[in-house]
Amino acid sequence: MIKADALHKELTVGQLSARSGVAVTALHFYETKGLITSRRNSGNQRRYPRSVLRRVSLIKVAQRLGIPLAEIAQALSTLPADRAPSAADWQRLSQQWSGELDERIRQLTLLRERLNQCIGCGCLSLEGCPLRNYGDVLGDAGPGARLLEPDAATDTP
Ligand code: FES
Repeated sequence: MIKADALHKELTVGQLSARSGVAVTALHFYETKGLITSRRNSGNQRRYPRSVLRRVSLIKVAQRLGIPLAEIAQALSTLPADRAPSAADWQRLSQQWSGELDERIRQLTLLRERLNQCIGCGCLSLEGCPLRNYGDVLGDAGPGARLLEPDAATDTP
């Protein structure tokens, strides 16, 4: 049973959109992905607790960091559903995401180094180009023009 005071503090999807700066369609999308939840009132309209505002802020920050939606959903699932994320919650998640950002920076730096080897070349050789055939993946599958085959090995790192 929801108390009258809590009902009073609930937000419509339009209010949540206006307060968070996130489009209504995006909020509906977040809900279908389980990132936020609402209840339905007697008129079958969505009603959100005010604590959802902080969850939406958290989602936007995570997206800005390039965290995939599935990982954001996993991180949010570790938070209590009955209150807004606290400063301690934010510290834990931001530390985790900081580590993931470091790893992505390392991978992108590696990719840039490989791209630098290709600049001015243009061969896109399956044998010699570090970007075209990273780790010689196709070479492990044997000789021939395997990219022309329907189930050819992928050439992405
Ligand atoms: S394009 Fe020639 S090595 Fe990559």
